[in-house]
Parts: sequence; structure tokens; C-alpha cells
Amino acid sequence: MARVALVSGGTRGIGAAISIALTAAGYKVAANYAGNEERAAAFHKATGIPVYRWDVSDYDACLAGLGRVEADLGPVEVLVNNAGITRDSMFHKMTPQQWKEVIDTNLSGLFNMTHPVWTGMRDRGFGRIVNISSINGQRGQVGQVNYSASKAGDLGFTRALALEGASRNITVNAICPGYIGTEMVRAIPQEVLDEKILPQIPLGRLGEPEEIARCVVFLVSDDAGFITGSTLTANGGQYVAA
Ligand SMILES: NC(=O)c1ccc[n+]([C@@H]2O[C@H](COP(=O)([O-])OP(=O)(O)OC[C@H]3O[C@@H](n4cnc5c(N)ncnc54)[C@H](OP(=O)(O)O)[C@@H]3O)[C@@H](O)[C@H]2O)c1
Repeated sequence: MARVALVSGGTRGIGAAISIALTAAGYKVAANYAGNEERAAAFHKATGIPVYRWDVSDYDACLAGLGRVEADLGPVEVLVNNAGITRDSMFHKMTPQQWKEVIDTNLSGLFNMTHPVWTGMRDRGFGRIVNISSINGQRGQVGQVNYSASKAGDLGFTRALALEGASRNITVNAICPGYIGTEMVRAIPQEVLDEKILPQIPLGRLGEPEEIARCVVFLVSDDAGFITGSTLTANGGQYVAA
């Protein structure tokens, strides 16, 4: 029986690549999104993957949304917490709202999405959770105190939950992408990319969303059953963490 996989923010960018790769690997995939109906509809049309709209920063919406996914496809055995946002600003100009939106989505979103599926995973004695953090959660970044704090929090969440899940055969891992060629990054002017960003990346190029997706496919596979609490860094050598 195909396992059911849910990808938050699974209709665009890295999440879309993850949804497609998991489908190709034989999972029954559900892709969540926040509100971009046009893109979600185009993604569904192109891939056939069912799409579900709700806001991961809202616990009750997650409970209801996950209920719909499980009613349609069956219990979620693989959860990829990929949905994330930026609200960049220098700290002295950062508003409480910019802080809150990013923490609520990028960090509390992990609690909101994982908590409702956790008991089921424990009861069934199997689960795979992958959290998409960031290079900027490992090293910090100017203008991203909110984002870096949220993504560093994702790593603490991953490590602690991995310890709790191990006795029930649930693995919890994180991936820290560097600069990936999604729309957000491709929107940066070419001269900024060429002069400022690419010289920081020893491999001399942006990553592709599919390269992150392949990391996810590995971490959720049976072959990765001994890997839990780990952080997989995929950044072209830009930051070589311990
Ligand atoms: N791109 C990079 O270079 C990079 C590097 C390191 C880490 N990351 C991380 O990788 C993840 C994906 O990034 P991306 O660049 O692929 O993002 P993206 O292209 O902006 O796509 C974000 C996806 O998340 C969804 N989303 C946003 N807020 C949500 C919410 N509150 N509830 C439900 N869904 C929500 C969006 O839905 P809608 O389409 O409805 O808006 C969309 O499907 C993020 O966690 C990001 O922090 C990205």
C-alpha cells in the first residue's frame, strides 16, 4: 500500500518539487497551500496531485485540513513541513507583526502541523517527518532576525522531537537548503546574483528545487530508517556547519 505523504506549501517552489518527487517515488501525496488559488489550480492540473488550502499558522485550521486529507487519502505517514515565508527587515525597523507572522508560520507551523498527526504515527509505530529549515537558521543573516530565529527553532524542534519519536519508529529530520533557484531567488537581479551571491557559493551555482526534493525522498525512505534528529545541509558549500 502506498504511504500517504503531506507536503505543506507543496504547490510552488521547493514544495512543488517535493510533492512531484514523492509522487514519482510511489507515495500518495497531498499538497497544502496558503491562498494562491491560481498556482494551486495550475499545479493540480499539471500533476494530478490533490491540493488543500489552509494556513499552517492556525492550529484549528491544521486540525480541520489534516482531517480532510486523512478522510480522502488515509492516515498521514509522511509529513514534510516545507511552508515558509520571509518578512525581511533590519532589526531596528522590524515590526512586531513582521516578527509574529514569520514565527507563527515557520516555527509554530511545525507544531500545528505535526501535533495532529503525532498520536496516529505513535499508535501505528511508523512515521517520517522532514522539516525544511534554512542555511540562515544555521548561520544567521542580516535583515532576517525573525526568519533566522524561526529556522533555528525548527532545528531544535527536530532534535527534541526525534528523541521522543525514536521508540515508536518515527524519524524526524531537517534539511537546510542554501540558495535555491525558486521564483523568490530568481527575482533577484542577475547582476546581484553574479556579483554578490554566486561568489559566496563554492559550487558556483544555485541549487535546484529537485535537489532538495531528492534529499526528502531519501530521508523518508525505509533506507533512511537509522537517521533521525539530523540536519542535512544542501547549500553548495556556502556554509560548512559542524
Ligand atoms: N528558496 C530558497 O532559496 C530557500 C532557501 C532556504 C530555505 N528555504 C525554505 O524552503 C521552504 C520553501 O521555500 P520556497 O522558496 O519554495 O517558497 P515559495 O516558492 O515562496 O513557496 C511557499 C509555499 O508555501 C506556502 N505557504 C506559505 N505560507 C503558508 C501558510 N501560512 N500556510 C500554508 N502554506 C503556506 C505557499 O502557498 P501559496 O502558494 O498559497 O502562497 C507556497 O506553496 C520555506 O520554508 C523556505 O523558508 C528556501
